[in-house]
Amino acid sequence: MSNVCEYIPGLENIPAAKSSISYVDGQEGILEYRGIPIKELAEKGSFLECAYLLIWDKLPTKDELEAFETEILYHRRIKYRIRDMMKCFPETGHPMDALQTSAAALGLFYSRRALDNPEYISQAVVRLLAKIPTMVAAFHQMRRGNDPVQPNDSLGYAANFLYMLTERKPDPLAAKIFDVCLTLHAEHTMNASTFSAMVTASTLTDPYAVVASAVGTLAGPLHGGANEEVLKMLEEIGSVENVRPYIENCVANKLKIMGFGHRVYKVKDPRATILQSLAEQLFEQTGRDDYYQIALEVEKVVEELLGQKGIYANVDFYSGLVYRKLGIPSDLFTPIFAIARVAGWLAHWKEQLAVNRIFRPTQVYVGSHNSPYIPIENRVQTEVNGH
Ligand code: CMC
Repeated sequence: MSNVCEYIPGLENIPAAKSSISYVDGQEGILEYRGIPIKELAEKGSFLECAYLLIWDKLPTKDELEAFETEILYHRRIKYRIRDMMKCFPETGHPMDALQTSAAALGLFYSRRALDNPEYISQAVVRLLAKIPTMVAAFHQMRRGNDPVQPNDSLGYAANFLYMLTERKPDPLAAKIFDVCLTLHAEHTMNASTFSAMVTASTLTDPYAVVASAVGTLAGPLHGGANEEVLKMLEEIGSVENVRPYIENCVANKLKIMGFGHRVYKVKDPRATILQSLAEQLFEQTGRDDYYQIALEVEKVVEELLGQKGIYANVDFYSGLVYRKLGIPSDLFTPIFAIARVAGWLAHWKEQLAVNRIFRPTQVYVGSHNSPYIPIENRVQTEVNGH
């Protein structure tokens, strides 16, 4: 049988869904959630308001938002058995791996797969939004030999997460900026982790498995893991003078510069612009640091050398700088991305369920046919995958 379909690596430009959740115009640098420009939402809304908008497809009224926030506040704690399980995780393990495991473990406690029951759907939404930040903070405390810090009921979503990380109530500007960071990362059309969430959702498994699958996909350095890599790169560069030779070497050797380039954006990512201004606000309050100066120079040189190819700063370039200034360790940057993106994943989960058909793509077979079965004594040892 012949294969008639064309294979497109990375499924570039192949629609995997019809969606009304978010919109990106990569030439104009536009991002909208449910039609509302991201700048409006970042300036005027809160993360939980955006999560509500994405998942329930409307801006909540004051009462609806308060009820949603209260429900989430009520469900922030995690079961002691999940905490006990997390205590057994190696403290050297990556927090994304810890998060993937604990998100999947939620399914052990709450899975009933009652996907046709609206109450089950809304409970799963609330539990995942409420518990994921607690699990990220708990692993961070436990790997340092501390007991997890219990959620503080007097604090909002963003402030409470920073509190659970440090056991100190955060400065209001820090909490506000962190909340905006969550809004900026909440959703971004079709991308690797969202696709992963949708493929998993299409099997009608439980939402905890959907989120665990997406967390695993987000962890890679070409996706959510890039923000951590950006800081490693800035550290390696070390000084403003080293920027040009470092970037020239990357370009000459076709090495990827972390925090730059995007499959869709061919101009500067609008989220990077907002994050840069948040970084400026933070630096105004707390003083500039060397990394920021290096970052500005990196952006300038990359634009000069690669701008004509449409390679500009993406969301990950400035988020790491903001988180670092907030005192957050770099291996928590990607779990924080996940805390925010749970909103988008859940919105796509719901959208997928409404029109579900299991994903079952095809492949272009390039192997042999009718190959002989060679008896084991006649086989010659050859290298397989470099082993
Ligand atoms: N540095 C240097 N060159 C780059 C970069 C970069 N960061 N990104 C793309 N290019 C070049 C690439 O070498 C290729 O050049 P040529 O055509 O001469 O071979 C061309 O641009 C196209 O690159 P690609 O890898 O085929 O593009 P893609 O659409 O498959 O990949 C990407 C998109 C985001 C994976 C890629 O730009 C990249 O690896 N960036 C660095 C990692 C990063 O910052 N990731 C975060 C992405 S934004 C948040 C998210 O989605 O999670």
